[in-house]
Amino acid sequence: MTDLDGFIAAAPLADVPDEGQRLVSVGGRAVLLCRSENQVFAIENRCSHDFEPLQGGRIRKCTIVCPHHGARFNLKNGSAMGPPAFAAIRTFPTRIAGDTIEVKL
Ligand code: FES
Repeated sequence: MTDLDGFIAAAPLADVPDEGQRLVSVGGRAVLLCRSENQVFAIENRCSHDFEPLQGGRIRKCTIVCPHHGARFNLKNGSAMGPPAFAAIRTFPTRIAGDTIEVKL
């Protein structure tokens, strides 16, 4: 369901444990919900290095490490934090509405 301001319900908050993740489809797009330090982030499930999925990457201190070649990204703004990736990944705004994570594409 889309709100007037463009946020779409993505998943129950309880489905994403702290330092965990969950892959969801939002508006037909593969979005990886990540939770770290009790903040929830939404990123495109695609690494900027070799375009492999980021799902399964280790999450720690608001970063995710790509499970393929080890690039680390800042979950807050998508920036690449070192080789082999140099370009940012796409991030989406999130908010919590009751017990639901909402994402704006
Ligand atoms: S595909 Fe992610 S580091 Fe290479």
